[in-house]
Amino acid sequence: MRAAPGQAPLVGSLAPPTEVWQYDGQVPGPLLRLPQGGTLAAVLDNALPEPTTIHWHGIRVPNAMDGVPGLTQAPVAPGARFDYRFAAADAGTYWYHPHLSTPEQVDRGLHGVLIVDEPDPPAVDRDIVWLLDDWRLDQQARIVDDFLAFRDVSHAGRIGNTVTINGRLADREAVRPGERIRLRLVNAANARIFGLRFEGLAPWLLTLDGQPLPAPRRLAGEHSLMLGPGMRADLLIDIPREGGPWRVLDVSQIRRAWRLVDLVADRGVPDAGAVAGRAAGGRRDAPRPIAPNPHAEPDLRDPLRVSIDFGGGMMGRGWPADTPEARAARRERRLQGHREADPVWSVNGHAHLEHGAGHGFEFVADRGRTVLLEFHNDTAWWHPIHLHGHSWRELERDGRPVPDRPWRDTSLMAPGERLQVAFVADNPGDWLLHCHVLEHHAGGMGTQFRVR
Ligand code: C2O
Ligand code: CU
Repeated sequence: MRAAPGQAPLVGSLAPPTEVWQYDGQVPGPLLRLPQGGTLAAVLDNALPEPTTIHWHGIRVPNAMDGVPGLTQAPVAPGARFDYRFAAADAGTYWYHPHLSTPEQVDRGLHGVLIVDEPDPPAVDRDIVWLLDDWRLDQQARIVDDFLAFRDVSHAGRIGNTVTINGRLADREAVRPGERIRLRLVNAANARIFGLRFEGLAPWLLTLDGQPLPAPRRLAGEHSLMLGPGMRADLLIDIPREGGPWRVLDVSQIRRAWRLVDLVADRGVPDAGAVAGRAAGGRRDAPRPIAPNPHAEPDLRDPLRVSIDFGGGMMGRGWPADTPEARAARRERRLQGHREADPVWSVNGHAHLEHGAGHGFEFVADRGRTVLLEFHNDTAWWHPIHLHGHSWRELERDGRPVPDRPWRDTSLMAPGERLQVAFVADNPGDWLLHCHVLEHHAGGMGTQFRVR
């Protein structure tokens, strides 16, 4: 996988192609796909003007493959290579992206989808991926180069003005009347939260963050699918034999719902014969549940309890303490050309602008121990909180049980919300826990823990 500057026709013929950073000459990067139990071997070849890494978001990998500079590996310098190799124990929809200068590198186009196929997937006619992203473009479709602007870091993050699906301006998607689709959604945006509603359709929700629900459930009527940065969901959609187009709306801002894309009936869409176990045209029965991935079940009798308070941001109760020395060090690094955010977010009172050596661990868990995390979002903003190396079960939100107790690697928290999650710390090594609004993480909203 060659990471290099290049061009991508993000807005089609509306403007010249955009200068981007990309893997193997494409935005998004190549779709990597392998069977569950298979081994992924990828060589990162860094042709960027700066160091980078690859993080495999959501799939459990050995610590040394996690791609976190300063914590799990050294940065891969320009001109250097790094071999990533791991066995895919978990099936599902995952993605990959750099974990260095992340707000800028991911925003410029470095990201792609990783699919691990179940041995026995649900029968569908087509299996498709929508990688959702947004971009901040000027009139000539150039990326606006104001990464880590203070107003973005301290508010909702860098929200773009142009939304793309699979690297093209979202507008219409052709669907075949009567087909059953597995639609894999990946939110690769730095900060935008999507709340998707499929008008006139009643999709089944199959998986969240790659992990199957115990039973597929309908997303009908007023229900929308909330997808924060880093999050994924697989839907199964039955396209009616008649009618359309069907609008897909983003209703995340209730007063400002907007049309993301139209699904347009088109009999010319190839009747993909290649999908394993394809639906025999027009079956409308509920899909079977997908077999769960081999996660150890948390044992809640005597967990290691950890409370984590997220604080800071605009309109919050105050910013983390900063010192004159830290300010001077940041000024120095900026003078050397490093982009760096101000410490405006905190985890248990501390801003972590960088990870790696020099920071303590928020907690240390013995291998096999259940960790019960009690989060409090003590800020005025939404935060998708992401766990490295494991998936957790969402147990309670504001004291109420979460239906299905889904496994997740990224959990979206509303302002003021409390969330309780648990996981078995069975993947040894040093791992990150951070907000996936990339500007929030850069502004201090992350921490690290050790499994030993
Ligand atoms: Cu998708 Cu720590 O990141
Ligand atoms: Cu956040």
